[in-house]
Amino acid sequence: MPDAQAQQAAKLAAAKAALRFIEPGMVVGLGSGSTATLFIQLLGEKVQQGLDIKGIASSEDSEVLGRKLGIPITDFDHHSTIDVAVDGADEVAPGLALIKGGGGKLLREKIVASACKRFIIVADDSKLVKQLGAFPLPVEVIPMAVPLVTEKLSDLGFTPKIRQDKSGNGPYITDEGNILLDCSSSGIADPEVTAAEIRSIIGVVEHGLFLNMAERVLLAGADGSVRELT
Ligand code: 5RP
Repeated sequence: MPDAQAQQAAKLAAAKAALRFIEPGMVVGLGSGSTATLFIQLLGEKVQQGLDIKGIASSEDSEVLGRKLGIPITDFDHHSTIDVAVDGADEVAPGLALIKGGGGKLLREKIVASACKRFIIVADDSKLVKQLGAFPLPVEVIPMAVPLVTEKLSDLGFTPKIRQDKSGNGPYITDEGNILLDCSSSGIADPEVTAAEIRSIIGVVEHGLFLNMAERVLLAGADGSVRELT
């Protein structure tokens, strides 16, 4: 099987495995990205078969998809707590430290993760790393502060690059109207320290380090087997 197909099979296996955490009456956080999308599609099928849940979306894309599939979409005005959120990740390191934001949705994803009782990550096993940082860390920044934040992130040892829109129309703009800096590095040795350093930079809205948030990671191989990391 070609690699892309194998990876797709693994993503689907992880998404399927997450369904067992969903019970009738729950408010479910809908993640973003290709693996979370597979989960939303499976959840949509269950809703069409009569499962009574509501969804809170972590991106405009996930909200549109959820509505299209018939998942009733709610918000924090109506529900301040999410029972379970299911989302993907770009890297998973020991201690369930994550990098997220490859799809550009890290701010709303982190808001959803912060409001849920159980944060479940679904991923193929290529996402497992010994140390975070081979994947450039996305940092969401207020547009006017980009030059200042770029300088400060460089001082921390990162090489920040403004994310470009896939259509080639200039910078990628987040759902919240901000810019993303993708920050390459030689590795993030101490994610807690790095998270605090980045957070202290004025103009940074949020960063893609998700620490002490995931309850478990459902990590699937191409053969469909799913390992649970807790
Ligand atoms: C989006 C994300 C995604 O969850 C992350 O990029 C993983 O995506 P995929 O499942 O497509 O590999 O954080 O901002």
